[in-house]
Amino acid sequence: MNRAEHIAIIMDGNGRWAKKRGMPRVKGHEKGAETVREITKYCAQNEEIRVLTLFAFSTENWKRPKSEVQFLMKLLERYLKNELPIYLEEGVRFETIGDLSPFSDSLKNRIAFTKESTANQNRLIQVLALNYGGRDEIVRAANRACEKGVKINESNFDSFLDTPGLGEVDILLRTGGEMRLSNFLLWRAAYAELFFTKTLWPDFTPKELESIIKNYKKRERRFGGV
Ligand code: IPE
Ligand code: IPE
Ligand code: MG
Repeated sequence: MNRAEHIAIIMDGNGRWAKKRGMPRVKGHEKGAETVREITKYCAQNEEIRVLTLFAFSTENWKRPKSEVQFLMKLLERYLKNELPIYLEEGVRFETIGDLSPFSDSLKNRIAFTKESTANQNRLIQVLALNYGGRDEIVRAANRACEKGVKINESNFDSFLDTPGLGEVDILLRTGGEMRLSNFLLWRAAYAELFFTKTLWPDFTPKELESIIKNYKKRERRFGGV
């Protein structure tokens, strides 16, 4: 049976969740942060899952209204602050992928502090994709290799990615009903099994994830073989 070691999620549908309730979009992001906590706990307690990568802010999301972008940045900082005890309790190591350079010093410091504080946790690696674009990551990785004078190949390329060693994605899931990748994890998801659910991210539950994992286990992964 397939092992679900690396699960990656495009957390989509926060805005629509709020709109449906006559609330501003940002309320959906707030509720979505609670879902992040529940799903992270579930994954930490599931022995098989080693990495959970969550798409939180894309390189394209800067196009949103300034007020929404600002809210997301503040929410992220608040989330990381509140979450630290839970990371430590649940054995979660915090990591990121994406280009952090445009973020405020205060957010960058909070990210670095959370990484340092959780560096020895070993039940789950929670990776937040922040100002992340799959193409951007590949281009920056290629430039890093170039600066070091290393000729890249399929085996050494991983070591130039934002956080090396996360491994191939097993399950790539998108909530919110859209069926596209939106520039997520282009390199690591080359052979991921894809899942799409109409459930909006704030409504997504560990129970639904569990049923997706069950379904994944029954799929036949051939990797080009027969
Ligand atoms: C995903 O939810 C969260 C982020 C992109 C930050 P959206 O905000 O994209 O929600 P919808 O797709 O508009 O409903
Ligand atoms: C993808 O969702 C990015 C995140 C979930 C952070 P979007 O809502 O930004 O993607 P599009 O615009 O539908 O492709
Ligand atoms: Mg969306």
